[in-house]
Amino acid sequence: MADQLRKNKILEDKHLMAELGGGQARIDKQHAAGRKTARERINILLDPNTFVEVDKFVTHTATDFEMDKNKFFGDGVVAGYGKIDGRIIYVFAQDFTVFGGSLSRANANKITKLMDMALKMGAPVIGLNDSGGARIQEGVESLAGYADIFYRNVKSSGVIPQISAVLGPCAGGAVYSPAITDFILMVKETSYMFVTGPDVIKTVTNEEVTKEELGGAMTHNKKSGVAHFTADDDDQAMMMIRELMSFLPSNNMEDPLRKPCTDDVNREIPKLDTIIPDDPNKPYDMKEIILAVIDNGHFLEVQPHYAQNIIVGFARIDGRSVGIVANQPQVLAGVLDIDSSTKAARFVRFCDAFNIPLITLEDVPGFLPGTAQEFGGIIKHGAKLLYAFCEATVPKITLITRKAYGGAYDVMSSKHIGADYNFAYPTAEIAVMGPDGAVNIIYRNKIKDDDHKKQVVQEYRDNFASPYKAAELGYIDEIIYPHNTRKKLAQALEMTENKSESMPPKKHGNIPL
Ligand code: HXC
Repeated sequence: MADQLRKNKILEDKHLMAELGGGQARIDKQHAAGRKTARERINILLDPNTFVEVDKFVTHTATDFEMDKNKFFGDGVVAGYGKIDGRIIYVFAQDFTVFGGSLSRANANKITKLMDMALKMGAPVIGLNDSGGARIQEGVESLAGYADIFYRNVKSSGVIPQISAVLGPCAGGAVYSPAITDFILMVKETSYMFVTGPDVIKTVTNEEVTKEELGGAMTHNKKSGVAHFTADDDDQAMMMIRELMSFLPSNNMEDPLRKPCTDDVNREIPKLDTIIPDDPNKPYDMKEIILAVIDNGHFLEVQPHYAQNIIVGFARIDGRSVGIVANQPQVLAGVLDIDSSTKAARFVRFCDAFNIPLITLEDVPGFLPGTAQEFGGIIKHGAKLLYAFCEATVPKITLITRKAYGGAYDVMSSKHIGADYNFAYPTAEIAVMGPDGAVNIIYRNKIKDDDHKKQVVQEYRDNFASPYKAAELGYIDEIIYPHNTRKKLAQALEMTENKSESMPPKKHGNIPL
């Protein structure tokens, strides 16, 4: 008996030692830098007392550089499983207090073991990144560890949700694991991501740039579009991951959870009857429509700072999780350009992979003209969005609020590319191009004066730039009163609930990259 208690005590001591990571001094340094430790982060992320740590006593096996005399339990990664809102998720958190959270052969094995378990069990993986990169003392073994992780990221893509939070350094090839995952969240001022840092850049290109400018949270959320969310601190970051998870299923074979809806599904929204300005060139805020129609105005916008001419994000309608894609007339008139096309295409593909119905709100004057766009490849980037909507087999519901011009009409989840139910407001203008442009071509050299032009523009608008031609042809299923938008979207979601559609069997398509 006494011997058993003694052995329990040894275990307890080892637990305590493991939980101290790289020691109190390094924990204090981490706190002083405004960052939480790996274990603190996991505790905030998960439901209370649900974390089960796996491989807590793993140590590295390196011997070079006297590493055999320098070992810490866990070896720089805390890994395991736990629950978010009662559902199992797998989590690994790099522990910066142990060798700067750097990736060793041993801790890469911990991560890949967890990823294999998550894939087998059909549960999401959340990676909390805070690392100095490859464990320099281990050389190619560390690089092998990274590649093992990348390989599993790709295998798991579209099967289980993978979410990355970047909560400290993330540099060099280490950036590619988060980049392959579905969403990247960064914390302002304490995190950065780059392939090569400021010093290398200075040597190679002579450019001077700070870490924050080069790869800080706002750089990747606003300029590069690499990241999807920003948080002010670690606590908020963990809460945002919990919120994101609430909209997602655990894997691609499940539907997202339907939650009880406390918001009247038949709620009329009178303000939508006057939201579209009389002047078609005047903007309005599409977000007002989104917030008004969804349950309790709760919208988790994805990439809110990037390519703001398109809005994407998660919400619920009648308790059902939906992905919303909406042109934003308030920014660049809601035009489709390279950045907005790729932003929306990736979102559409995520929703399709994880059985989240798509609601498209459309007010788009077309694709952005200009040499910058053409030289930048708007043809292939715009095609990504077209491709993504075409291949998506989840329920697709579209509402045209105002403009649906030209190719952009086809692209934005039109009936012809497989949308299941297409609504239009009476203010919708569905045509090959705007009335001004159309009149300039049809009446070339025939316009007598300004009054005549005004008259033919109005005639064109009345006859062609309306939803009625499209409705006559069955391209629009229903023209609705704007105040009924919420009810109508909920009805369409219910009607499409059991949709079953599949694409022809193939290895994979060839989306224009
Ligand atoms: C081993 C490392 C380490 C690493 C940091 N440490 N990075 N140990 N391998 N890559 C250790 C430090 O020695 C230190 O140990 C502790 O972590 C904290 O580091 P500090 O430098 O004191 O912290 P800080 O001042 O905050 O600076 C953080 C840092 C810096 C900017 C990340 O540590 C740094 O530049 N590290 C090297 C980064 C790097 O070059 N990595 C390899 C990149 S190449 P003690 O014992 O003092 O606490 C790469 C390729 C990946 O990653 C390719 C994948 C395909």
